[in-house]
Amino acid sequence: MTSPIPFPSRIWQRSGGSAILLFTALLTLSFGGLLATPRVATAQAQTSSATSPSDPWWKHAVVYEIYPRSYQDSNGDGIGDLNGITSRLGYLQSLGVDAIWIAPMYPSPQVDFGYDISNYETADPQYGTLADMDHLIAEGKTHHVRILLDMVLNHTSDKHQWFIEASSSRTNPKHNWYCWNDGKPANAPGVTAYQKRFEHDGRVPPNNWVSDFGGSAWQWVPAVHQFYYHEFYKQQPDLNWRNPAVEKAMFGAMQFWLDRGVAGFRLDAIPNLFEDPQLRDNPVLGDTNAQGDPKVSDIYTNNLPEVHDVIRRMRAMVAKYPGNRVLIGETYLPNTAELDKWYGGTAHNELQLPMDMLIGFHGDHDKLNAAAFRQHIEEVETQIHGSQPLIVFDNHDNVRAIDRYGDGVHDDQINKVLATMLFTTKATSLMYYGEEIGMHTTTPTRREDVKDPIGITGWPKEKGRDGERTPMQWTAGPQAGFSTNSHTWLPIPPSHKTINVAVESKDSNSELEWFKQLVALRRDLPALHSGHITMLDTSNPDVLSYVLSTGTGPAVVVAMNFTATPKTITLNLAGSGVKGKTVKTLAADDASLKSTTTLKNVTLPPFASWVASVQ
Ligand code: GLC
Ligand code: CA
Repeated sequence: MTSPIPFPSRIWQRSGGSAILLFTALLTLSFGGLLATPRVATAQAQTSSATSPSDPWWKHAVVYEIYPRSYQDSNGDGIGDLNGITSRLGYLQSLGVDAIWIAPMYPSPQVDFGYDISNYETADPQYGTLADMDHLIAEGKTHHVRILLDMVLNHTSDKHQWFIEASSSRTNPKHNWYCWNDGKPANAPGVTAYQKRFEHDGRVPPNNWVSDFGGSAWQWVPAVHQFYYHEFYKQQPDLNWRNPAVEKAMFGAMQFWLDRGVAGFRLDAIPNLFEDPQLRDNPVLGDTNAQGDPKVSDIYTNNLPEVHDVIRRMRAMVAKYPGNRVLIGETYLPNTAELDKWYGGTAHNELQLPMDMLIGFHGDHDKLNAAAFRQHIEEVETQIHGSQPLIVFDNHDNVRAIDRYGDGVHDDQINKVLATMLFTTKATSLMYYGEEIGMHTTTPTRREDVKDPIGITGWPKEKGRDGERTPMQWTAGPQAGFSTNSHTWLPIPPSHKTINVAVESKDSNSELEWFKQLVALRRDLPALHSGHITMLDTSNPDVLSYVLSTGTGPAVVVAMNFTATPKTITLNLAGSGVKGKTVKTLAADDASLKSTTTLKNVTLPPFASWVASVQ
């Protein structure tokens, strides 16, 4: 892959019936009761399973993203499915996962592998049935794993009934549910050669807006003699959020699932709902992108202020449901001040958890840079008016973090360093399947093998997102235990022989065990899941260290060596308000650190992670 991140433009610029009602009522009633019982009948009771308005479950949660095509195939067709996910709830529970976010599992032509939805109110037959979804939600409750769905509000599939109607005639009542424009004459002044490439019947798109996935963002429909706007593939027409009927229909789709007992949503491409009503050209940045289109900024197509009104109404709608349902946002934003707006600033009335993409997706400086992490972590902890940060390093759109931050030699330790940052601040943690075992990105080497359309049109500069979507590696056996079918939708990476759940469960030094250990620690220690953070040794360019304290109970010190050479540190707690000088190691990925008792002259081996309590 020429660019370490296959999604560069995103990184910075954004980077029923009575029976059902009864069923829902039962689910809702059982929610509080079940979840108030300790998850494990040991000292490891999960603090995060309890929920109350002042201390909602999602505040200390570990959220785990599942790409349903790739998690577990239950019926041998080579494609993951809902019953496959249900069969793995025991594993997820043992990992300490509080909620899973399932990438779109709704009916879809699968152009964008589910992000092109043709019906919001059931499951795609290749993943299962609505009954399977209900079963997953119910079984999730037994395992104390909440279900979050991916809600795609910006666009539908072009095969959705709404769009089929909308594109049939200008007078169809659904026409105005999408964003139409007559375009302008191809010979109008200022029309560029690029725009002329998209000429139809003497007309060209109204402006220079480029689709994130290549080509003009405007697509011609002869039947209505107009262009429609699509931020993503042309099979993903943008909905017109200036039409109140759209909001009503989409909120209805959300209520359909809230009524069935889902714990909330991850809102896809949420800053993209509105475009400039004057359709002004986006500023031209010069040069062309991997798809061969002129690079343009997205000031008129992304993060427009109007979106916040919708989000406030959505928050109020969701708040009517019991059990602290949560709204998580896919919010690639330029800075923390913009992120704060997505919480509603001081009003705290928008998303509970817009994702902080500044920590885990640094864009062009994806490396283990202690100063950058120190600054970003401190910023999100202190500059969002007391809201709850959400930290994430990995998802289905980007090269896996282990490959972005890894050096090819110490990847396992570096993956542990990333996990340490993910689980040792009070931020809610969002992880991606496979991250816990150190799965690598396996990018196709031949264009003919690529499944993600942007990797076909962008080849070889852009090889698409297949690499980070390969099947989950469960065992060293056939198809990594993912499927009984020797033909899986994406190939099984050869690395499954050594990188898999079965092998790593038996190795106390594995990445999987490190993840489990940290998640368990954080569940048990208030300082780790709710503590105030103070950065330590702040001029150290090589070691990131901080102390976490709630003011009562033991404080926790965390230190990570970001380099391939041993580093000796002395940590001074003066200024943090934490008293105590003796320490006791809680977790260390190197045996040499296990007997450390002081904060003076502690030597951290290459890429070591160390977590200790202060007495
Ligand atoms: C989001 C999804 C991505 C999808 C796009 C369009 O960025 O994460 O996978 O292609 O939206 O829906
Ligand atoms: Ca299947």
